[in-house]
Amino acid sequence: MNAPTTLHLGTSQADLTRAAALLRAGDVVSLPTETVYGLGADARNGDAVARVYEAKGRPSFNPLIVHVASTQAAQRYVVWSPQADLLAHAFWPGPLTLVLPLKSGHGISSLVTAGLETLAVRVPAHPVAHRLLELFDGPVAAPSANPSGRISPTTADHVLAGLDGKIAAVVDAGPCSVGVESTIVGLAGEPTLLRPGGVPAEAIEARLGTSLARLASGDPLTAPGQLLSHYAPSAAVRLNAVTARVDEVLLGFGDMACDLNLSPSGDLAEAAANLFGFFHQLDSLKRPIAIAPIPDHGLGAAINDRLRRAAAPRQSPPSGVASAC
Ligand code: TXA
Ligand code: MG
Repeated sequence: MNAPTTLHLGTSQADLTRAAALLRAGDVVSLPTETVYGLGADARNGDAVARVYEAKGRPSFNPLIVHVASTQAAQRYVVWSPQADLLAHAFWPGPLTLVLPLKSGHGISSLVTAGLETLAVRVPAHPVAHRLLELFDGPVAAPSANPSGRISPTTADHVLAGLDGKIAAVVDAGPCSVGVESTIVGLAGEPTLLRPGGVPAEAIEARLGTSLARLASGDPLTAPGQLLSHYAPSAAVRLNAVTARVDEVLLGFGDMACDLNLSPSGDLAEAAANLFGFFHQLDSLKRPIAIAPIPDHGLGAAINDRLRRAAAPRQSPPSGVASAC
């Protein structure tokens, strides 16, 4: 069911109550989180989840993250473990997603898990997401609220630019503070970094007291959203640029001459928060984009992961393999 007009809701109690009622009715609502805007639906309602895939144009074999209000709520759906407990204590609520074995009687639609035996769960830190999850009082499956393969949204305007008329509502709480998606850690087996993101891998390793296994390149199936070409502006992207070539716009970092600077002071958190918004701005110029080198530690690893995907040759998914999200 396509919504002919998308409600633009604010963060008042009345608006959040309306958003929760829409979720309960099986509608798709875009909600702010501290990382990026999500495209939310009741994770127990297969029809509602199907509408998320439909709005994004994403094939249904790509699993979604389930958002809940608390660790206790997460424990209803997954088999908990001491490692999950350590990480949840340290980083929830916050930009960390844990992949854990599904618990029997979980009630989550198999469209959410794409048939996997594991579930990705996260307790977001954004106060508006938290209020909405409490009002809804259930699990919300939410991928980033962008059409499949496109740049993730960090404002409600970005969401509407891609999905206006295709979803019931967007809850507008202003720009997202973290700006890159959550870090995903697999805990169903050996602790594995499935996607770098808003919590630096180093911080997770320090808390676990062990290093995280990394996905081998060419192993896209464990974190199926990790196709190489992703987060793609429509223009060509060139990395590690020091100066712009003719026609290019230069996206800088640190003290340098450029058209737009992710963080003039070289602050990686500021750069992450600006990343997708600046991509959206540069994309509208329809010129090739050159990007300055970004240090590869801490949040820089998440930024560089997104930049490499933005610069990768555009690919369509091999058959049987999940598409970009
Ligand atoms: O910050 C975020 O994580 C945002 C906000 C909205 O929470 N969400 C987000 O969702 O980035 P999405 O759907 O764009 O990316 C989810 C990633 C995908 O790469 C997907 O394949 C992976 O999570 N994923 C979901 N369930 C999984 C599972 N059971 N095992 C491995 N990877 C999983
Ligand atoms: Mg995404």
